[in-house]
Amino acid sequence: MKVFVTGATGAIGRHVVPALIRHGHTVTALARTPEKAAALSAQGARAVAVSLFERSALAEAFAGHDAVANLATAIPPTSRFMSAKAWRKNDRVRTEGSAAVVDAALASGVAGLVQESVSMLYGDGGADWIDEDAPVDPYPLARSNLTAEANARRFTEAGGTAVVLRFGLFYGPGAAHSDQMFAQARRHVGLVVGPPDGYLSSIHLADAASAVVSALRAPAGTFNVVDDEPLTKREHARALERAAGSAMWLRVPGRAAALFGERLTSLSRSLRVSNARFRAATGWAPRYPSAREGWMATAATLRTGTARTSV
Ligand SMILES: NC(=O)c1ccc[n+]([C@@H]2O[C@H](COP(=O)([O-])OP(=O)(O)OC[C@H]3O[C@@H](n4cnc5c(N)ncnc54)[C@H](OP(=O)(O)O)[C@@H]3O)[C@@H](O)[C@H]2O)c1
Repeated sequence: MKVFVTGATGAIGRHVVPALIRHGHTVTALARTPEKAAALSAQGARAVAVSLFERSALAEAFAGHDAVANLATAIPPTSRFMSAKAWRKNDRVRTEGSAAVVDAALASGVAGLVQESVSMLYGDGGADWIDEDAPVDPYPLARSNLTAEANARRFTEAGGTAVVLRFGLFYGPGAAHSDQMFAQARRHVGLVVGPPDGYLSSIHLADAASAVVSALRAPAGTFNVVDDEPLTKREHARALERAAGSAMWLRVPGRAAALFGERLTSLSRSLRVSNARFRAATGWAPRYPSAREGWMATAATLRTGTARTSV
């Protein structure tokens, strides 16, 4: 297939481009600078400089492609998570950006769309398993994702095949937030957001990338892409501790996360999310069934500095 990728230079994008090429697809990717264009060409993709918000230019760039993978995001660094202003760029990318991508893809006759979303949309489920029929919770940080999902459904209603992937919390080489978590763990500090017996559904970037490849042959719909075995936040901290090889003296903010309200709710709620539907629909399976295995592999990569992006 000829696939156009937005967000190709980001945490998941840097794993997705080589994964698509390894599976025989031809990749065109949006690049915002000459340096990023060169990096994409080095990975074997054709780089195109086009705005994510300009429908006519996007339609021109999408012409002749079989599918678009819309993976662009602008999540603030953890240090700025609490500032509402810091989320504005991301909200624009996920709302106006996804609308422009859908309109341009429809205008240029592209058949397929893969839209990035997150599984942190679900309400706190405690220890219950959560599948795609569970209700979503439209808290402020979730709304731009819900808009991107609605735009993707509009693509399907207009005759295309849109696949929405609700990813768990990214971790792995190149995920800025997980690199920070690993560095903190090496300094004996563990990030545990919310009650320690609550669940955290994560996904290693290599598995997230293989899911994007699998999504190209999925039926239209919304699918959870998470580890097979979500861990409790206590178990997750232990997995990180073991991978970092240093005892965790401090686990923060724990239950105190509730004090930060809406700003941290995407991470403080308990989410035991099931990937069964995506597995059944595509035959996809994560290489790392849980963060126990995934963090050990990530630690090995971060230590040797050999980021593996192939899947
Ligand atoms: N499910 C999850 O847990 C999840 C989801 C997303 C991100 N994250 C985490 O958040 C960290 C930072 O995230 P991030 O959102 O900045 O993602 P990122 O992983 O750094 O990549 C974002 C991608 O979107 C592109 N992009 C951003 N704004 C754009 C715009 N206005 N027009 C066109 N393309 C645009 C970026 O292009 P440029 O390279 O040109 O900037 C880049 O390719 C990541 O490292 C990851 O760890 C987690």
